[in-house]
Amino acid sequence: MCDFSPRAIGYVHVNPQYTNVFVANIINDDSTATIAPESLDLVSAICCLSPLALGDFPPALDNIACVLKRVGRLLFRDYVIGSQAEVHFAARCPVTRISTCGPMA
Ligand SMILES: C[S@@+](CC[C@H](N)C(=O)[O-])C[C@H]1O[C@@H](n2cnc3c(N)ncnc32)[C@H](O)[C@@H]1O
Repeated sequence: MCDFSPRAIGYVHVNPQYTNVFVANIINDDSTATIAPESLDLVSAICCLSPLALGDFPPALDNIACVLKRVGRLLFRDYVIGSQAEVHFAARCPVTRISTCGPMA
């Protein structure tokens, strides 16, 4: 498991169930420095791609592709317009980032 937040990694690190936990920026840290190339069957990215600017998608996805087996899979799920998260927070924050602001700079 990786995240570029040392604090987030710290929360996971204390759980011995997770053995390969490290700080990395998915955009520009070489994933093969910590994971063998073409070694993973599955990469899971749950709510991890939406923080990226559009221009950062190609290097991030290339980075993921480097560690996936040729028949590996990327499982991703993220925020979308009309999702429960957007509906829930719309009451408190009527201007949503997803629908009005576009990618973050
Ligand atoms: C909404 S959280 C989702 C966390 C976790 N997957 C979950 O479902 O609880 C998004 C996470 O992406 C991390 N993140 C954002 N940009 C990143 C990047 N460029 N590289 C690595 N992690 C990043 C953030 O630090 C944050 O922990």
